[in-house]
Parts: sequence; structure tokens; C-alpha cells
Amino acid sequence: MDLEQYGIKMWSEEKIASFQEKLLAWYDKEKRDLPWRHSNNPYHIWVSEIMLQQTRVDTVIPYYHRFLETFPTIESLSNAQEESLLKVWEGLGYYSRVRNMQKAAKQIMEQYGGEFPSTMEEIQTLKGIGPYTAGAIASIAFDLPEPAVDGNLMRVISRLFEIGLDIGNPSNRKVFQAVAEKIISKERPGDFNQALMDLGSDIESPATPHPEDSPVKEFSAAYLNGTMHLYPVKIPKKKPIPMRWEAFVIQNEKGQYLLEKNTYADLLSGFWHFPLIRDYTPTGKQLSLLDEIAEVVEEYPNKNIPMETQFETIYQLKIEKEKTFKGEVKHIFSHQKWEVKLSKYNIQGNTSLEKTNDRELKWAEAEEFHKMPFSKVQTKLWEHVIQQEKNNTL
Ligand code: ADE
Repeated sequence: MDLEQYGIKMWSEEKIASFQEKLLAWYDKEKRDLPWRHSNNPYHIWVSEIMLQQTRVDTVIPYYHRFLETFPTIESLSNAQEESLLKVWEGLGYYSRVRNMQKAAKQIMEQYGGEFPSTMEEIQTLKGIGPYTAGAIASIAFDLPEPAVDGNLMRVISRLFEIGLDIGNPSNRKVFQAVAEKIISKERPGDFNQALMDLGSDIESPATPHPEDSPVKEFSAAYLNGTMHLYPVKIPKKKPIPMRWEAFVIQNEKGQYLLEKNTYADLLSGFWHFPLIRDYTPTGKQLSLLDEIAEVVEEYPNKNIPMETQFETIYQLKIEKEKTFKGEVKHIFSHQKWEVKLSKYNIQGNTSLEKTNDRELKWAEAEEFHKMPFSKVQTKLWEHVIQQEKNNTL
């Protein structure tokens, strides 16, 4: 990767060596004495890293000991009863972590004969292990020069090089990864990563940093230039805007469903879906919760027109609601949060689609659906229809 394109000037080999030397000497003297630092068994390192994902070091320590007493080997973890698995994790929360660990233990038993895999690629195929955890295990247990890039490391590195990229944007991770790959110690990668973790959780902590105590402050561009307060850059995520829609599930006499290809909006463009109409009817809940909605409702002219009438005007088809059918699905996009009510309608009279020639519509058999591009929202809607039909025929 060309780091200069991001305004990053990589250090000389001498400077990198000197940085590693300073950082590791500090680590040797000041490192926290943590139980998993007395082991290089990949299973132990894995257990510690998964526990540390959402939990503080002090809390993790007793759990770490208890876990390894209860499940001393990968095999014992793979054979554990669910109850004892949950018991040993009780109080740590995020139980999917331990459920995934058992799945990964089974994978290791089946695919790797019970030996923890030792390459970055293989480690990342294990359930629940992403690039950060894989990097931590690869470096600490197998001495591979792999960085462990998380928020802590990005914070430290952004200050070292004055990198102004948003650390909350996942696509920027690769830049920090590339910088870390350049500066990581090839001789002691595990210690190097853990030294950065210690630095990031204390001297360079987000809440109470005291960078004047940093063993590597003379390497830090932000420290030297007095710009520490500008790094890391983290742009707050906007809350997704709530939107309500009405989906029209309409079947003709042949049993075909009316579908529309979205050719007019950026979101879901090119996908087929049941006709959707945005619902601007004010609800007390939303009005009090969200000013944006109030504004939109104010200016939107069709807010008081019944959905059915709106549909008939737009699509030039006459419909009648099936009263027994009820449903709602939710879906969150990165910037919108949809609540889609779906109702089933019977079509009255003419089913020709000719008059709606500015929209791409078709009557489609349910059997054809798998060949048509469906968005996640439409898939959820369709699953709901199937479920409703089943319930109604029981
Ligand atoms: N946080 C995540 N991994 C860690 C480790 N190995 N040592 C200290 N803190 C950590």
C-alpha cells in the first residue's frame, strides 16, 4: 500500500528499529503481569482474547482461570454441555462469544485434528475469530509478525503519524494495518502488540491520557507538534432515520404477485419488491421522538390520504384489503431504519399494468422469486407472507 497517498510519511529502518527497542524495553520493565502472559499455548491466548473483547482485564482474570480449569483442552471445550458452557461464562455477557468458541473448538477437532491452526488464514476461518483476534493469537502464540488492529492500536498509531482518517470507518482499518505491519517487531511480534495494548489502555487511554509518560513520545508526531487532542479522528455515527412504509401484497386470480423493480431510488435500486409507499401518517410516538419526522409530515401533502387511495392513484389498479392478514417487518440500513407494515389486498377488475408505464411492474409466480434479485427487506416481507399464509390455513 502506498502510504504517502494518505499523507503518511513512513519512518526509516533505523527509526523503526529504535522505536521497537524503546517500546519493548519499556514493556519488559513495566508490563502488566497477566496470567495469559505466562503462556504461549494458542488455546490459552484464544480464551483470553475472546474474554477481553468486551470485558475489562481485572474482570477477566478469575474467569480465565476458571474457564481453563473447567475446560483444560480444546477437546474438552468441544464436548462441553451447553449448561456448563454458559455457567463458566455467567456474568461476562455476550454469550455468543462462548457459543462461537465451542463451534470453533469443534472445527479444530474436525479439521485440524485438535491442533490449533498456525497460519493467519486458517485462524481466521474459525468461528468468532476476526482479524484482530487472529492477529493477536498469530503474534502471541506463533510469533508471526501480524498486527492486532483494534480501536486502541488505531488510536496510538494515529498519534504517532498524525493520521487524520476516521477510525470509526471500517474501510480505513487497512491503512492502520499497513502502518502497523511496517513497524511491528519481527523478532517479538507478540510482545510488540501487547506493548501497544498496554500503552493504549493506560498512557494513551481515551479518557485519561498522560502522554508525557510515554516511552515513545519522541516518536509521536502528534506529541511533538502539540496536536494530541486532534487524534484519533472519530466521526460520530449518525443515527439511522426512522421511516415507515406500507408494502402491498397483491395477488391476482392466477395466484401471481405484483412486484415492482426499483429503478427510481438509490437505495435498493435494481431490486424487485412488493409495491412500497412511504407512510407519513404522524404517530404520537414518532412525533415526540423525532423532529425530522415532524418536519417531513408538515410539508408532505399526502399525509392524510389513505394508503389504499394513494396506491390506486399511483398504480392505476383497484384493490381491496384482506382483513385477516397482518404483518410488520423491520430492517436497519446504515442510515435508515425501516418499519414496513404489510397488508394483503385483492385486486378488483382490470389487472393490466399498462397504465403505469413509468414504473417497472410485473405479475410474478412465487416459483420465479428465487431467480429475481430480492433485497433483504423483500426477503423478510416474503418470509412473513409465507408464515401468515400458513397460519391462516391452519
Ligand atoms: N486486551 C486484549 N488483549 C490483551 C492482552 N493480550 N493483554 C492485555 N490487554 C489486552
